[in-house]
Amino acid sequence: MKISASSTPLTEQKKDALILFFQGLENTLPDGYETLKSELSELLEKSAFKGEAGQCVIFPRSGTQLILVGIGPEKYYYNGLLEQAAATAVKAGKAAGLKSFAVASEINLSDTSEADYQLLVGRGAAWGTYAFNTFKSDAKKSSAFSLTFCGAIKDRSAIKAAQAQGKALLSTADLANLPGNEAPPAKIATWAKKMAKENGLTCEIMGKAELTKKGCGGILAVAQGSAQDARMIVLKHAGTDPKAKPIVLVGKTVTFDSGGISLKPGKGMGWMKYDKCGGMAVLTAMQMVARMNLKVPVIGILGAAENMPGSQAIRPGDIIKAYNGKTVEVLNTDAEGRLVLMDALGLAADMKPKAIVDLATLTGACIVALGSSAAAILGNDVKLVNELIGSGIDAGERLWELPLFKDYTDDMKSDFADLSNLSKSGGAGTATAAAFLQEFVPEDIPWAHLDIAGTAWLESPKPYQAPGATLFGARLLAQWLAAQD
Ligand code: BES
Ligand code: ZN
Ligand code: ZN
Repeated sequence: MKISASSTPLTEQKKDALILFFQGLENTLPDGYETLKSELSELLEKSAFKGEAGQCVIFPRSGTQLILVGIGPEKYYYNGLLEQAAATAVKAGKAAGLKSFAVASEINLSDTSEADYQLLVGRGAAWGTYAFNTFKSDAKKSSAFSLTFCGAIKDRSAIKAAQAQGKALLSTADLANLPGNEAPPAKIATWAKKMAKENGLTCEIMGKAELTKKGCGGILAVAQGSAQDARMIVLKHAGTDPKAKPIVLVGKTVTFDSGGISLKPGKGMGWMKYDKCGGMAVLTAMQMVARMNLKVPVIGILGAAENMPGSQAIRPGDIIKAYNGKTVEVLNTDAEGRLVLMDALGLAADMKPKAIVDLATLTGACIVALGSSAAAILGNDVKLVNELIGSGIDAGERLWELPLFKDYTDDMKSDFADLSNLSKSGGAGTATAAAFLQEFVPEDIPWAHLDIAGTAWLESPKPYQAPGATLFGARLLAQWLAAQD
């Protein structure tokens, strides 16, 4: 995979295909290129292509083919559609046997900066080459791919970032798509260690003995019904200033969520191999941070455990103790993500961070509220929440804020312990889960929680991606962390 820049104009490139983005029937090519523009208008007269989001056609031509891809009309536009369009074009081109692609170095779009355009298109194109083939006996080796931004380019940093981020996404995708039997906590830890070594991060792993010594009663309780032991994985990117406070990213990494004794229904349970996707987004973001050489120190914590109903499993009614000393009555063993996160957040708070951001496929209620169109964000700090929402807009990953009213905290009180892992009222599932997490973060540390239950994986094929992990969250974290530099 190679993403690069060339000052040779688009029309003089000897590549397999040119990719052209259309906002409805509006060509988004920058000024100039008048001959190409009139060729395209002629082609469009005879075509059913309307430039709708996800629509893609390849016009054969002697030499370089033309791939037209839609981002839809302006009123529905957001940056994610541009990244998806780039992925769609490359996916379609690759299926047609094309390997080298060219795009213009600029785009005529009012709300997208030149740097964001290059990052979104470069990263999307890389994503479009991805296929999860690990278990396909007849899989072909993935072929070489190149994308060239053509024309005048003042600053190549966005193109370099696209290459770095694309590589991080592709490498983690193969791990994120592994099923529960192939990716137990120990395997995630080994993968993280290797990735850390290759990218200049440090990596510490805590196993059962150390977690017991530390009093991490939540993650241990979740893992006790499984034959697979838990791991707490801590990755560190030092940054350049040893005195700077780190930003800590925390990811729920439940390698399979059966629900435990509060067993989930059979239908759709297989998708719970993706209950590790909070951790997968954090792993990806850590690799992006390392590859981009950011100055800001960043720590990633993955709480990895498998939630199974074995004979040693926690029972509804059991009372456990978190790392920060609070006691929790487990009224539903399927609300396990918050038990893993309560310890991880406690450990994060000890690191005296500038901010903590956690990501988790935490509640089905989040899917009821927002579907797969946006992730929910809740937090204790308006500035942090707004910054993350803004980075999400730029990075094409939409966040929508839900409130953290005191009522939700009250709803999580237990009659027998400090807290219950299940709300009394049964309402506001996403917000009550966040209110529970808030009890493990000291008030003076800015903290935000992203519930990615609806956005972490795709269940049906889309033009830009086959079913599987999306790694939602990594892109916006990279955008936000780069803005801290
Ligand atoms: N991992 C699930 C949440 C989930 C469900 C994510 C479906 C994506 C798709 C989580 O551990 C869970 O089971 N949550 C329960 C909590 C409830 C028992 C309070 C839920 O949402 O039903
Ligand atoms: Zn669960
Ligand atoms: Zn879960």
